[in-house]
Amino acid sequence: MHVAVFSTTPTDRTFLGEANSGGRHQLIFIEARLDATTAAAAAGAQAVCAFVNDRLDAPALRELQRLGVRMVALRCAGFNNVDLAEAAALGIAVGRVPEYSPYAVAEHTVALILTLNRKIHRAHSRVREGNFALEGLLGFDLHGRTVGAIGTGKIGECFLRIMAGFGCRLLAHDPRPSEACRQLGVQYVELAELLERSDVVSLHCPLTPQTRHLIDARALARMRPGAMLVNTSRGAVIDTRAAIAALKSGRLGSLGLDVYEEEADLFFRDLSGDMIRDDVFARLLTFPNVVVTGHQAFFTEDALRAIAATTLGNLDAFEATGRPDHPVSVERIA
Ligand code: NAI
Repeated sequence: MHVAVFSTTPTDRTFLGEANSGGRHQLIFIEARLDATTAAAAAGAQAVCAFVNDRLDAPALRELQRLGVRMVALRCAGFNNVDLAEAAALGIAVGRVPEYSPYAVAEHTVALILTLNRKIHRAHSRVREGNFALEGLLGFDLHGRTVGAIGTGKIGECFLRIMAGFGCRLLAHDPRPSEACRQLGVQYVELAELLERSDVVSLHCPLTPQTRHLIDARALARMRPGAMLVNTSRGAVIDTRAAIAALKSGRLGSLGLDVYEEEADLFFRDLSGDMIRDDVFARLLTFPNVVVTGHQAFFTEDALRAIAATTLGNLDAFEATGRPDHPVSVERIA
């Protein structure tokens, strides 16, 4: 099939190219992000391959269908950027990569926690400037602390397993509790209780209408004073302005983000020679107790190899049967 691959980076070319053994699909690499204004670049393709910040809303999907595109192959797990109802109405199949390396994201979550707790970001700059003073770098033992995971799917479970190794007490909230997590000693509680009891709260749920701004001013006010909040799920699960207010008041102890509500205008590009036009994001960067990474939690060799293999598998299956191996259906958003 002809596949228009949007938001392509050199790394995508390498991994997707390797997975496309024998050149069975013709991959057309396009740097632009996919939205209604760029969809025309898919002319001649039967499928598009899209990433997290491509915007597959109704106008974009209608344009893709008009051009003859019959499948969207998401090379990511999340699918909040696709209007699934519209895709179904237009007869466009949507495939995704439900699982590639939960370890990649879970390990990055732990990296954010350790960085914030032991102030590695500040220690690194200090030492490079010959400042070996310890004042301001005080952390706490994770051992014995309470960690709460919101969402215990593949990544949440993997994260809790790592934190069990640190000797943490484990809480979780998920409408569909996992038996594997229970066996690990995880206690499932209501969201309010998780927020009230956790020293570290980590988000691992998908972004849905129900989870948009799940962590808002009220939720933040329920958290233990000085607690840490970490988000490697999707930016809009946190109301960023409310988080900034909680940081300013000192109520929120620290914040680690790999995702941000308005990241589509910032992440995955080199803007170092430009200015940051997003004042909310710029404010976040002024706090010493905030660490932000640019949606890189998934970014390991192992994960990229698995993502490329599953994405090509979805394309193969769609070409052979009219259905990707891992379809996303409209019921998923219910
Ligand atoms: P998953 O589908 O295995 O698990 C998600 C869990 O969240 C499920 O158990 C579900 O029941 C639960 N959930 C749904 N609504 C909830 C709610 N209101 N409160 C609490 N839990 C709720 O998904 P997986 O693979 O664990 O990924 C989780 C999320 O991580 C993805 O949806 C995606 O947004 C994000 N992600 C981020 C990456 C990054 O690079 N930062 C990479 C991959 C995924």
